[in-house]
Amino acid sequence: MRDTHQHPLNQLPQFGALSRHAQQARGWQLAELFREDPSRAARFTLEAAGLCLDYSKNHLNEETIRLLTTFAQARGVESLRDAMFRGDRINLSEQRAVLHTALRLPPEARLSVEGEELVGGIQQELGRMALFAERVRQGDWKGYTGREIMDVVNIGIGGSDLGPMMTVAALRAYAHPRLRFHFLSNVDGHATTATLAELDPATTLFIVASKSFTTQETMLNAHAARRWFLQHAKETDLAAHFVAVSTNTSAVTAFGIAADNMFPFRDWVGGRFSIWSSIGLSLLIAIGIDHFREFLSGGHAMDEHFQHAPLHANMPVMLALLGFWYREFFETSSQLIAPYHEDLRHFPAYLQQLEMESNGKRVTRDGKPMSMKTAPVIWGSAGTNNQHAYFQMLHQGTDLIPVDFIAALKPQHDLIDQQRALMANCFAQAEALMNGVQDPSLPPHRIFPGNRPSTMLLMDQLSPASLGTLIALYEHKTFVLGALWDINSFDQWGVELGKTMALRILAELEGSESAGQHDSSTNALITRARSALK
Ligand code: F6P
Repeated sequence: MRDTHQHPLNQLPQFGALSRHAQQARGWQLAELFREDPSRAARFTLEAAGLCLDYSKNHLNEETIRLLTTFAQARGVESLRDAMFRGDRINLSEQRAVLHTALRLPPEARLSVEGEELVGGIQQELGRMALFAERVRQGDWKGYTGREIMDVVNIGIGGSDLGPMMTVAALRAYAHPRLRFHFLSNVDGHATTATLAELDPATTLFIVASKSFTTQETMLNAHAARRWFLQHAKETDLAAHFVAVSTNTSAVTAFGIAADNMFPFRDWVGGRFSIWSSIGLSLLIAIGIDHFREFLSGGHAMDEHFQHAPLHANMPVMLALLGFWYREFFETSSQLIAPYHEDLRHFPAYLQQLEMESNGKRVTRDGKPMSMKTAPVIWGSAGTNNQHAYFQMLHQGTDLIPVDFIAALKPQHDLIDQQRALMANCFAQAEALMNGVQDPSLPPHRIFPGNRPSTMLLMDQLSPASLGTLIALYEHKTFVLGALWDINSFDQWGVELGKTMALRILAELEGSESAGQHDSSTNALITRARSALK
């Protein structure tokens, strides 16, 4: 089915055609392309599932799209996509299916994978979560003194933190007014003590979120929270204040959390794709089941579009093709994400894990060395603060950095003058990056070269549904890029080495292992820390 993958990517004839075309495209001026074609914006704008993607301010024409989509076809993007939705074990190194998309299927849908019907079980688990969340929201879930829950603390890291943290912030306008949410992820005790200092044990609910339930940071934080709680309450009170979200039932039980207080999910949900699963429990408590279902539906709407739209009119495919185009043919090394919505301020960090943990790989799916560069650095923060920090470099620096601007037109407040100013800044940046200033009467430091690409992603309003659609869009973009590069986007072995070595050094810092087995730099660092931490 994907026999083109037997060849190094850059030896494919479709890649050669793209490469030759790119030589011309590198000489194009974006402003000139607009002057030549008054309908350029309409020609290169896509609408799908309530999102509008204007990708006209990019270095491309219709031939570029034709060559890129032909290349995507040759790379088997469509057949791999279908295999993912079908539940084939496309995560080869872990022999797992990749089925986060099943979590957002409508309740009446059916999906049978390896003889098991999945949707019934998914809906049943969601129902359990919803009942629990409703009790917390209504104040019926009581703490050990009989008071209602006021603070919810999600303890988790990576995919077990970024999704809940990003979405709870993004849907702040929909959150329950009584409840405050906290996210404890880092193993740094400064964060732990600062968070616990804000809390009252009698009214705090801890959600220990960990797919593996073995992650060092999460376990240390969970134990610290447990010790802090037991300074105020009894062991038998734990059940009212600690719940777990995990795939590892035995480890949850060993921690002291009863099965009734555990919300499981399956191993076919990857950490960075897990916000749709019980890892989303804090979001569900924040926004309630009706809004959570809208969030799932928003994700599903993008799944439908991704599965059925032709490649040239397919939004996640287009975002991925743009990413591939710049990375391979314009030698870009980073991609900026610029949300012009304060509540989306954590979205760039969320995408960092999604894209860099998925596609930051150096071998192909069958273990051959990559013949070209893979995931770029993903970075960014909310506008307009970004403009007053690092946009100088985008306009006049020496690197070409493609930008994704993300904006919601209608605000969730009544300061319309501010919303107009926010949108004006967003659109102005895209225009300024493209047009620059080339007036020869100006001194060199006043010249802006322009011709710098950007993509504009608009939604009507930031809502549970549009947020779900937005996340699914980038998930599928990441998937398509992985397919183009022939990468397994669903494992993360690169994180393991550091974890193992940290455990070894920890034993040396604790004094239980003899130090001195490292290079002279690491030995000296350990010696210093060991004496400081005696
Ligand atoms: O950083 C590696 C990683 O495995 C991520 O992929 C994952 O999201 C995170 O650690 C947390 O893992 P867990 O949910 O098992 O605690």
